[in-house]
Amino acid sequence: MKNLQKIILSILAIYIFSCSSENLNAPFEITSPNNSLRSVISMDEGVPYYSLAFNGTLIVDKSRLGINTDKFLLSDQLKVIKVKKRSQNKSWEQVWGEQKIVQDNYNELELTLLCTAEKNKMILRFRMFNDGMGFRYEIPRQNKISDFTILDELTEFNLSEDSPSWWIPAYAYRRYEFLYANTLISEISRDKFSELVENLSGPRIGPEAVQTPFTTQRKDGTVITIHEANLANYSSMALKATGTKKLECDLFPWSDGTKVKTSVPMQSPWRTVIVGANPRDIVMSTLTLNLNEPNKLSNTSWIEPGKYIGVWWEMIGTNQSTWGSGQNHGATTEKVMKYIDFGSEHGFKGVLVEGWNKGWDQNWCCNGEGEDFGFYHPHPDFDHKLVREYAKEKNIRIVGHHETGTQIENYERQLDSAFAYCQRNGIRVVKTGYVNDGSKNIKRTGADGKIYKEWHHGQYMVEHFRKVLETAAKYEVSIVVHEPIKDTGLRRTYPNMVSREGARGQEFNGFMGVNDNNKPNHSTILPFTRLVSSPMDYTPGIFNLTEYRYFAPDNRKINLNHQIPSTISKELALYVVIYAPVQMAADLPENYEGHPAFQFIKDVPTDWENSVCINGEIGEYITMVRKDINSDDWYLGSITNENSRVLSVSLSFLDADKQYNATVYKDPEAGGWKKRPEEVVIQSQLVDSGSDLSIVIPSGGGQAIRFSPVN
Ligand code: NOJ
Ligand code: CA
Repeated sequence: MKNLQKIILSILAIYIFSCSSENLNAPFEITSPNNSLRSVISMDEGVPYYSLAFNGTLIVDKSRLGINTDKFLLSDQLKVIKVKKRSQNKSWEQVWGEQKIVQDNYNELELTLLCTAEKNKMILRFRMFNDGMGFRYEIPRQNKISDFTILDELTEFNLSEDSPSWWIPAYAYRRYEFLYANTLISEISRDKFSELVENLSGPRIGPEAVQTPFTTQRKDGTVITIHEANLANYSSMALKATGTKKLECDLFPWSDGTKVKTSVPMQSPWRTVIVGANPRDIVMSTLTLNLNEPNKLSNTSWIEPGKYIGVWWEMIGTNQSTWGSGQNHGATTEKVMKYIDFGSEHGFKGVLVEGWNKGWDQNWCCNGEGEDFGFYHPHPDFDHKLVREYAKEKNIRIVGHHETGTQIENYERQLDSAFAYCQRNGIRVVKTGYVNDGSKNIKRTGADGKIYKEWHHGQYMVEHFRKVLETAAKYEVSIVVHEPIKDTGLRRTYPNMVSREGARGQEFNGFMGVNDNNKPNHSTILPFTRLVSSPMDYTPGIFNLTEYRYFAPDNRKINLNHQIPSTISKELALYVVIYAPVQMAADLPENYEGHPAFQFIKDVPTDWENSVCINGEIGEYITMVRKDINSDDWYLGSITNENSRVLSVSLSFLDADKQYNATVYKDPEAGGWKKRPEEVVIQSQLVDSGSDLSIVIPSGGGQAIRFSPVN
């Protein structure tokens, strides 16, 4: 009985409910647990609005809420009929991640709204955390209506200052794979993007809009990132530009122009406004994860963080091999066995093999056409039984590869067999791919038998990606998605969603020439934009940074128009800066063999007990430190853009009772991405939590450090 009382009391301590049905008059207010954030929800002639203030300064001005559907009127003539408040302060454990324990601390406000004209009901749920705000629309069962269609979501983000922002365009042909533009919010447009970053070819369909996470920084230093959490059974949200400082929710439509096809009870994804006093705070935000459902997988022992190498860069980077058949085919049994030897010798968990299957020989790229890919049909050059036995003997696993070429229906038909094949062959991680360089170009057969073309980011694809993930989980396979839908925190619910691309990764340094590759500042923008939401399969670790690419597999002359705009030390630092539970060592084994800097790649973990962003300015530099989950070691990664700089870092994060050996991997002071990028200076020194380090980084360079306790 005593125990029961204890349980009830502790539950009460966690959840404090208070129904204040007595006060139904707007405005309503919700604050963060530390009171730094305050939102006011008002009703103006039957229309709901919200605003948001940070430390007393209004950062989001009065902004409209509401949705238009074909069956319910939920955008005006609304009145609040019920108010509920609730608070929670709990913590939960990640299966893997940047930190083991996540604090989930918020105040919640639930408003039930009734449309006075048609008697429809909708719930607006707001959650206020110390790192930002989330709100969503919920449509409960009512009026005997089941299926309905969302024609438009009216959510606005009316920022109170026209601040510099970092963004990539939506409705553009290459999904999320763009460099970032940096303009005022009011300047967002495809013309501006074409002027500043890259000429946007292809038809201009869809409105002027940006993808999320979208980040802006106010004059006072406050950083705001707008994104969404738990994107499920819905279309993804872009932000429509209005030529002012106001952005509007813009849902990627179906081919028939509707936005979401759904039924009651419905919950929209959370619309999120992540807020930090500086860029560092944004990097540390856990709001997106907290707004997702807890882990649904009862057994996660098969989900293993780790590093992999692969038959990959020789196709995409050095251009010496092909995915398809022929004398330069990369995925041959013999080649894969060599990778297995190298990976096993150096402690890697996996070897990725691209081009192992049927489908690469006829026009697979980039229109969703060509021969059907086969996902359990090995190429004759690849003896999967022999490879499976050899990998087992060498204690390493093959990382599977499912390039779909966006033949979605072809992939879905094979899903179960494809993942059953993986399970039979000891494959526990699969990299999927969705190359299709058109805009609205994903083919779908309608109920009428006709072919319709859908957006990569619409509800059709959101649902497809979830189907793949759930099927993979059934067969104990984890997924790394290339050309994915953006991450909205789904990894909490399905921890087999281990990583994804969803931004310009290393591959662009492979196949793009010097004018069009990633610029040195790209990796200093990513942590404050794309990476706010999740892990990324950037594939760092290229050591051969110059004179690495052939003109063609059959023309082995070096194409000097290619250079990786990085240094080896920066490539090492990226393993700490960019979080992913599965990280690739992307270069060819021969470029690692015997190289002293390879030791850092071998050492660096991919699962952390804790992470701290030490310093950072968007597009300038960043320093991350992370503590290994399996030892007392800490790792540091620091990178810069084109500017050289000296960063002073206090080591107060280290355990005060310990002394550490710091192994430092750095660029020569007179080096950098243009000069001596392949030189690494490796030094050791004793440090403790009272030490201050002066980190000198030349232009486009980086620094990586391993701290191991000596006592
Ligand atoms: C694009 C992916 O990003 C890349 O990693 C892959 O090698 C190619 N598609 C082929 O699937
Ligand atoms: Ca890609």
